[in-house]
Amino acid sequence: MELGLAGKKAVVTGASHGIGLAVVRALVAEGVEVVGGARTVSAELRELAPASAALDLSTVDGPDQLVRHAVSALGALDLLVNNVGGSPPPPDEGFLALDDATWTHVFDLNFFSAVRAARAAVPSLLRTRGAIVTIASVNARLAVPRLMAYSAAKSALVNFGRALGEELAPSGVRVRTVSPGPVRTRTWTAPERAAKAGMPASDFLAALPARLGLSTGELIEPEEIAALVLLLASDRLPSAVGADYVLDAGMIKSW
Ligand SMILES: NC(=O)c1ccc[n+]([C@@H]2O[C@H](COP(=O)([O-])OP(=O)(O)OC[C@H]3O[C@@H](n4cnc5c(N)ncnc54)[C@H](OP(=O)(O)O)[C@@H]3O)[C@@H](O)[C@H]2O)c1
Repeated sequence: MELGLAGKKAVVTGASHGIGLAVVRALVAEGVEVVGGARTVSAELRELAPASAALDLSTVDGPDQLVRHAVSALGALDLLVNNVGGSPPPPDEGFLALDDATWTHVFDLNFFSAVRAARAAVPSLLRTRGAIVTIASVNARLAVPRLMAYSAAKSALVNFGRALGEELAPSGVRVRTVSPGPVRTRTWTAPERAAKAGMPASDFLAALPARLGLSTGELIEPEEIAALVLLLASDRLPSAVGADYVLDAGMIKSW
């Protein structure tokens, strides 16, 4: 399918590794000019998107700074990919150990980063009739006590996407959300994950699909998430207003 993305201009948050980097790679392969943002610009990101910026997107000003920099470097903006996010290691003691500082950090990184980036990008996207694609998570729909703050932030993102999509649809700006299940990134491959489980890294990764109930028996590859992001970023699905797309290897068993 021809996505019609060649020549478009995009900004991707959390672009130096994992899903964000896979999205940058896929966009560049389609002829899109990209600016990425992360605290550290990896060598691969620098090669794909030379104007990428090193900045902290969990701060009040970081997302706005990134979008302004991208518009100035690219001359216009057709696409914002809100990818940055994650969860600090959750406390073993549960809800009462989650203090305000942790809740605030998790919401700043996962939710407000997207709100702030969208606020900065929408004036440009209205001019180009562009798109916003945001990476949420299956956790938006799951009750996992250890990931309570992260899940609440992702749930808020899905609702934000629906409402913003509704507001902007008459102006031709497409807003969509993707909710991945477990994706093979350092979220899972970082050595400390296996160490915490008391297993060698290869055994930990091999056991994950069954432990997490993945019907495919495999973790999701970042490239698969990137492929969905590109389809949703294109104008091929004009009726997808504020919609959230789950790509979870069969992890969620009920609807
Ligand atoms: N992997 C999964 O299983 C999974 C499943 C569902 C949803 N997701 C979501 O998908 C998104 C990407 O996850 P991932 O697994 O690809 O993560 P990852 O491999 O850890 O990559 C995260 C990216 O965000 C950047 N980043 C982190 N904190 C930042 C900050 N404060 N300011 C600027 N950049 C920051 C990182 O670069 P620096 O460290 O250099 O800043 C990196 O480029 C997240 O929103 C995550 O919640 C992931």
